[in-house]
Amino acid sequence: CNAVVLISGSGSNLQALIDSQGEGNPLRIRAVLSNRADAYGLTRAKNAGIATQVLDHRAYEGREAFDAALMEAIDVFRPDLVILAGFMRILSPAFVRHYEGRLLNIHPSLLPRHKGLHTHRRALEAQDSEHGCSVHFVTKELDGGPLVIQAVVPVQPGDSEETLALRVYLQEHRIYPQAVRWFAEGRLRLTPQGAVLDGETL
Ligand code: GRF
Repeated sequence: CNAVVLISGSGSNLQALIDSQGEGNPLRIRAVLSNRADAYGLTRAKNAGIATQVLDHRAYEGREAFDAALMEAIDVFRPDLVILAGFMRILSPAFVRHYEGRLLNIHPSLLPRHKGLHTHRRALEAQDSEHGCSVHFVTKELDGGPLVIQAVVPVQPGDSEETLALRVYLQEHRIYPQAVRWFAEGRLRLTPQGAVLDGETL
């Protein structure tokens, strides 16, 4: 399964995906693309011998032009799967349509709760007793595509945004490789009814 990973930052999820390759996992990350030249994930990719490319969104006139360039750069690698791993750009409908059924994202909340940014802060402000992370297929609904897998963590008394984020991160690094592996093994797909794993609607 040829995959391209899109990042904007530290790339800890990318690292978890890199580490999950091999040993019977058919995932092959062919390239890592970033919209930021200073994303540490680019160093992680280089260390793993993976091709990298930077496309700075500020160099393009608008979202459509950037997304068109991004699609062109991605499709060079003929990916079966495009993995969003901390890619901090909203994608245009044309982009989402182009990769429909082969575009996954991870979001640091228990979707549909806390779509969007600052999820850890918002979970604390709402005094949620539980928080977590979700992997989902990307559709035109922002953070609203069919869920694949979630992990729940407790919110503990005295938690700060940082301590809570760390607890969630550990789970992200577990469930994202799991979901991606299912896809790479041909066990996970998107249907009009939602995400399907081994023939069962999730
Ligand atoms: C993660 O919290 C992920 O859920 C969100 O962006 C963050 C990326 O972190 N979409 P990293 O770059 O993988 O370390």
